[in-house]
Formats: sequence, structure tokens, C-alpha cells
Amino acid sequence: MKGHSSQQALLVLGGQWGDEGKGKVVDLLSAGFKAVVRYNGGHNAGHTVKFGDRHFALHLVPSGIIHAGSRCYMGAWMVVDPLALVAEIADLGEKGVDVNGRLTVSPRATLILPSHQALDLAREQARGASSIGTTGRGIGPAYQDLAQRRALRAGVLTEPDRLEADATALMESHNRELELLFGAAPVDIAQAMKSLRQAARVLSPLVGEIGPALNRHGERGEPILFEGAQGIMLDLYHGTYPYVTSSSCLPGAAAVSCGIPIATLGPALGVMKAYVTRVGGGPFPTEIEDEVGDRLRERGNEFGTTTGRPRRCGWFDAVAARYAVRVAGLAGVALMKLDVLDGLEEIRVAVGYKTANGRVLAEPPADARKLAEIEPVYTTLPGWGTTTRGITREKDLPPAARAYLEFFEDHLGVPIVLVSTGPRREETLIRGRSALAERLRHAVHTVQEAAATP
Ligand code: GDP
Ligand code: IMO
Ligand code: MG
Repeated sequence: MKGHSSQQALLVLGGQWGDEGKGKVVDLLSAGFKAVVRYNGGHNAGHTVKFGDRHFALHLVPSGIIHAGSRCYMGAWMVVDPLALVAEIADLGEKGVDVNGRLTVSPRATLILPSHQALDLAREQARGASSIGTTGRGIGPAYQDLAQRRALRAGVLTEPDRLEADATALMESHNRELELLFGAAPVDIAQAMKSLRQAARVLSPLVGEIGPALNRHGERGEPILFEGAQGIMLDLYHGTYPYVTSSSCLPGAAAVSCGIPIATLGPALGVMKAYVTRVGGGPFPTEIEDEVGDRLRERGNEFGTTTGRPRRCGWFDAVAARYAVRVAGLAGVALMKLDVLDGLEEIRVAVGYKTANGRVLAEPPADARKLAEIEPVYTTLPGWGTTTRGITREKDLPPAARAYLEFFEDHLGVPIVLVSTGPRREETLIRGRSALAERLRHAVHTVQEAAATP
């Protein structure tokens, strides 16, 4: 593409089962980027941003919105609940963040209607013990309608008559399914339409093609940051299917979502915690079910940003992490929440998966049932007694923490370029001299100079 340079772009995505700290990383870097794009998922995501005494929870709007200088975009592979987006925009407004003239929603993004949410809940209930543990936001049913080619897309928000006719027809069809298949209460269509009409009035000025806008940023030499939601192990194709979300979280999804060449995406930075968490059902090989798990949950405040559900906690899974490096082609890793491990006597890391017949697998099997049967093979590393909270220089880390980082790098084969030692922007260190680390340093340096936060 003319004038476009992938050198200027960067892609930040989840390397585990979501909630790795993508919001913090995107916010930290976004003052160094003119444009920030969310490319997948919907308001199943919850991305937390903290600095000073400020606290934001973003669900649909890219985390870059906090920086007054960032232009934000929502891509075609997103599913957008108009009511949730209006509420999020209002909430941002109350906190002094104005999205006017700074947020564009692709007309190709799929709309989530209230009846999608009702279907999500009814289907989950019907699955009983094998429920996926979805966020109940209507994500799966909306992507299903997209694949069925009967979804409403965001462009319809600009056409009140079509919105009325198409949303009514789709909700009537959903209501038949709710009543006949699940014996569930139908959605009140008149009430839903009233809310949708109001939302459409607020949102229609935001609808616009994003591919040409991103091209223009490229031609002006303005760097673009792509923000993924969920994580590789929740990817529809490459995660622990069927215990996954209904979109792709991989870097390639960003090119599909924006309608831009894949070469414009730039390197992929995988965000991973120093341990792992998962919300909802499905196999989770390194899960800790004793008091050490409870301790990680409390110290790490592992309760969902979106649903408030307690997150399942486990030891760092280097097998899943290596797989993430391979399938997403990660150029480096941002290792988050190192401080949560402070004070543990020893720290375990899964370095292999052993099957029932004694074979050690190098990668997670494609079948979730097979994954549920494997036993992790652990290596134990010494912990550190002192706190790492808020440390911003590698040399200030306890030697055992530095050894932990080196062990990770050896196993993953890519550099750890960023280490996070607390939830706040400022509780971060950038590590090493790789090209990616220098790129991050440049962006963070811009942050310090910009001070362009509300
Ligand atoms: P996301 O979905 O990937 O953006 O992650 P979430 O925001 O859902 O969850 C990450 C949580 O960890 C949030 O509550 C963050 O404020 C918090 N957090 C991020 N980095 C750190 C860190 O280094 N240390 C600690 N203690 N908390 C962190
Ligand atoms: P962020 O972007 C963690 C999980 C749900 C459930 C499965 C399917 O904050 O990392 P869905 O509602 O998508 O149909 O649920 O995926 N899930 C997430 N877990 N972080 C997320 O987003 C998630 N989005 C979906 O808990 O197990
Ligand atoms: Mg989250």
C-alpha cells in the first residue's frame, strides 16, 4: 500500500485465555500511535486502564481513547451491541473522555440485538453441565447470524427505516427460537426497538469505512496500533474449541477486520501474565485448586472486568505459551503481573504435557477432550521474598525474578520486552535492546512527553 509502513504499526494481542493486561499495554503505548484499532470480539471484553488515581474499564471502545491525541476505530470483525456502546460512550464522557470526532465504527461490524443476548443465556442454560461459561453478552448468536448471512450490520444504524424492518424481523425469528426451542420468555420487541432507535441516533455519526481512513494514516506516516480482545487459547479456530469465543483473536484477524493488507500490521506483541487465568468452562491444564490458587486470585484481583466472576488461576503454562508464539508469530512478549508472584516460596511452570500413555506433547492437542486428559510436566523455580511492585528498572528486580524472566525467554524463544509490576501505567519496565523493545521505548517516551490525558 502506498506510503504504508508496517515499521510504524504494532499489534497487541492476548497470548493466553484473555485478561492478560492488554488494556494496560495498549494504553501505555497509545500516545505513541496516532490510530488505535480494536479488531475482534465485542463487549465480552473488559480492558482495564489505570494511572494515578484514574480507573477505566473499556469493553468496545479501543483502550487508546484515553489519550486525547489518538484516533480510534472499531473493525468489521467486531460484534457491537449499540446499547452497550452508547452506555460506554456516556460513561467515558462522565470521566472527561470525549469520543466525538475520534471514534469510527465500521459499517461492516455486526450488531448484537437484545434477542442475541437472550439466546446466549438460553443456550448456555440448555447445555447444563457442559456450558461454555460465556459472558452472556450475545456474542456467539451474533457471530452465528453473521455466518448465516442474516445479521444486521452497523451501516444500518444510519437508515432508520431499514433498521426498523430488519431488526424487527430478526428479533421475531429469535423470539420463535426462544419460545419453541427453549421455552424461554420472548424479548419485548417494541421496547427493544425504542432503545435501538435512540442508540442509532447517537451512533450514526460514528459509522464510516475504516480501511481508507487507516490508509490515510499510513500515507501521512502516522503509526497504527491494533488491539486484540480475548486471547489465543480462546481463538475460535486455534483455541480450546468449543470452550472458546466466536471470533479469531490472531493477528491475521486484524487484516480481515480492517480490510487492509496483512503486511501493514507490524510485529505482534503477545501479552501474557506470569501465571495463567481462565474465566468460564473448558480444560485448563495448570489450574491450581488449593490455597495457592486462592492467593493468586486475591493478590491478582482476578475477578472479571466484565462479569465480576472469579477467574480460575494456574501456573504459567509454557506449552500453551510456546504454541501462542508459533501460531501468532509473536515477535516478543509483555509479561504482566510479576508482582502477584511476590512472596511465593516456589513457582511452578508447565514445560510439557503428558498423555495417559506417557507420551510428552510439545503442543496442546486440537481436541479439548484430549487436552482435559493431559497431565502437565512441571519445573519448579525458587520464588523471591521481596516485593517487585512498581519496579521500573530490571536491575532493581530480585535475582530470582530475573532468573524467572530468563527461564521464560529460553522456553519461549522470543524476548520478554516489557515487564509489568503493577496495574498502573507507570508500574512498567521495558527490557532489552531488541527492535521491538526500542519501538516500545519510543512509544512510552512519547507518553511521558505528551501528558495528554484528561
Ligand atoms: P485485558 O482484558 O487483557 O485488558 O485485562 P483485564 O483488564 O481484564 O485484566 C487485567 C487486570 O490486571 C486488570 O485489573 C489490571 O488493572 C490488572 N493488571 C495489569 N497489569 C498488572 C500488573 O502488572 N500487576 C497487577 N497487580 N495488576 C495488573
Ligand atoms: P478480554 O478481551 C477472558 C471467555 C468467556 C467464555 C468464552 C466464551 O477482556 O481478554 P463469549 O461471551 O465470548 O461467547 O464467551 O470466552 N471470554 C473471555 N475471557 N477475557 C475476555 O476478554 C473474554 N471474552 C470472552 O468467559 O469462557
Ligand atoms: Mg479483560
